[in-house]
Amino acid sequence: MRPLIIAIDGYSSCGKSTLARQLASALQYKYIDSGAMYRAITYELLRRKINLDDLAAIREVLKDIHLDFKYDPSSGRSVILLNGEDVEQAIRSWEVSEAVSQVAAIPEVREFAVAQQRRMGKQRGIVMDGRDIGTVVFPDADVKIFMTADVKIRAQRRWKELQPLHPEISLAEVEKNLLERDRLDTQRAVSPLRKAADAFVIDNSHLTEPQQLQMAMDYVQKIMHNL
Ligand code: DC
Repeated sequence: MRPLIIAIDGYSSCGKSTLARQLASALQYKYIDSGAMYRAITYELLRRKINLDDLAAIREVLKDIHLDFKYDPSSGRSVILLNGEDVEQAIRSWEVSEAVSQVAAIPEVREFAVAQQRRMGKQRGIVMDGRDIGTVVFPDADVKIFMTADVKIRAQRRWKELQPLHPEISLAEVEKNLLERDRLDTQRAVSPLRKAADAFVIDNSHLTEPQQLQMAMDYVQKIMHNL
C-alpha cells in the first residue's frame, strides 16, 4: 500500500504537534510542522525589523528565505532550518507568537508556505499539522483529523510551556493571546481555519496523550483497511 498523507488541523495549543509527532513515529512517517514555517518567516521579519504592513518589503524577504526540516526518525522530532540555521527554539518566543497570525494572514506568505508544504509532501508518508492542511494544502489527504479542546485547558497547557522562558506572562494573558489567534485564524480572508467536511474530530480536553494517540491510530487503521 502506498504511504498516506495525514493532515491534522485545529486551534492553537490543542496538542496537534504532540499527536502528529507520535503518529509519525508510530507509522515511521515524516512529521512536518507547518506552523513552524509561518513562525520562521515571522521570526525573520521581526529580526530584520520589517514593518508587517509593508508588503513590498515582505515580498523581498520571502525571496531570501529557504525553509527545511531536519528530521530525526528515532525521536520523531523535527527541527526547522531557516537558511540552514536551526531556529526551532527562537520561533517559540512570545514575540513571534504575538505576531505570527498577522503574518500568516498575508496571501503572499501563504502562497510561499503552501508551495513548500506541497513540495515536502510529494514523497507521501507524512503527517503534517496546521490550520489549512486538510482543506487547502492537501484537500485529497487520505486521513484528516481536526483537533479541538476547551480554551481554558489549552491556555493552562500553553502557560505551563511558557513558564521557563517567560515567567512574567500570566495565565490570563495566555488565554487572551489564544483567543485572539483563534479569531485571526478563523476569520482571515485566505485559507481560514475550518474543519474539512470529511475530517475526524478529536476533542482532547479530557483525554490523555496515550488515549488521543489510540483514537487517532484506530481511525488511521480503519482508513488503511478500506483503501
Ligand atoms: O501551530 P502554531 O501555533 O505553531 O502556528 C503558528 C501560527 O501560524 C498560527 O497563529 C496560525 C498560523 N498557521 C496557519 O495559518 N496555517 C498553518 N497551516 C499553520 C499555522
